[in-house]
Amino acid sequence: MMPAMPLTNSSADSAAVGKPPVLAVLDSGAGGLPYLSWIHRHRPQGRYIYLADSKGFPYGSKSEEELIELVRRRIGCIQSEFDPDMVLIACNTASVVALAALREKFPLPFVGVVPAVKPAALKSKARRIGLIATSETVVSSYTDKLIADFASDCSVVRYAGQGLVEFVEHRITGSTLQQRLDAVTPACSFFRDAGVDQLVLGCTHFIHLKDEFQELLGPDIEVVDSVEGVGREVLRRLEELSAGNRPEGEGDFRIYTTSMPENGSYTDFAHFYGASFEGVLSCP
Ligand code: DGL
Repeated sequence: MMPAMPLTNSSADSAAVGKPPVLAVLDSGAGGLPYLSWIHRHRPQGRYIYLADSKGFPYGSKSEEELIELVRRRIGCIQSEFDPDMVLIACNTASVVALAALREKFPLPFVGVVPAVKPAALKSKARRIGLIATSETVVSSYTDKLIADFASDCSVVRYAGQGLVEFVEHRITGSTLQQRLDAVTPACSFFRDAGVDQLVLGCTHFIHLKDEFQELLGPDIEVVDSVEGVGREVLRRLEELSAGNRPEGEGDFRIYTTSMPENGSYTDFAHFYGASFEGVLSCP
């Protein structure tokens, strides 16, 4: 881990001023951007690195062994390039499969993202919850345990939306509202027929389509995600790492990919989220 940041200034009237800790965020693609955007909005002077693992995309159709190995290599690459103080795995699939292995290997604080089954179960009156996630997350034993621990008295109806992940990663920038509504229509019909009153977006890519899901599902089905819950936890831990120092300077929010995206999608994403697209980070 990075040694404590030297203070560049001190102030007699309030907390000391210092360089904020570096938060690195990893996802297979654009899914984690709404999380980092939330964090950036609430702590604009922070230093943020976002790695979209476009070369490793998609994570949701890889075997557990393959994914653990891949994510370990990506974190190794992030660590040697940026020496972050903390890492957010902004990907449900990588978190449910690989978080324990990452914590074992790297002496870094990690925060993961898992499907928001718990808040959905607290709110469900029908005791029927929908979960849409990647092919890997819907069948993972971690998800089974999450349901057993927090929603044991609910029926949880699962849907693998791997095609929708591809849509978000490769086609959402430049899409029309109608194309986005068409993309979520099959899943929405499935969940409406299933009689759920909560729908958990258990893949971070789907946050980009939250409004479209909500529009098609209507007011009787609430769409639930973990952006705010995870964002608050990350802010709390960044505060701890800053040890009361007020962040100084402008802050920065930089996005990298692991391969050159086919279209200008990451320039568009960066523009939309007030970040800068820095190009390809060469990771083994
Ligand atoms: N965004 C990721 C998740 O939350 C994974 C998408 C993929 O690469 O399959 O699960």
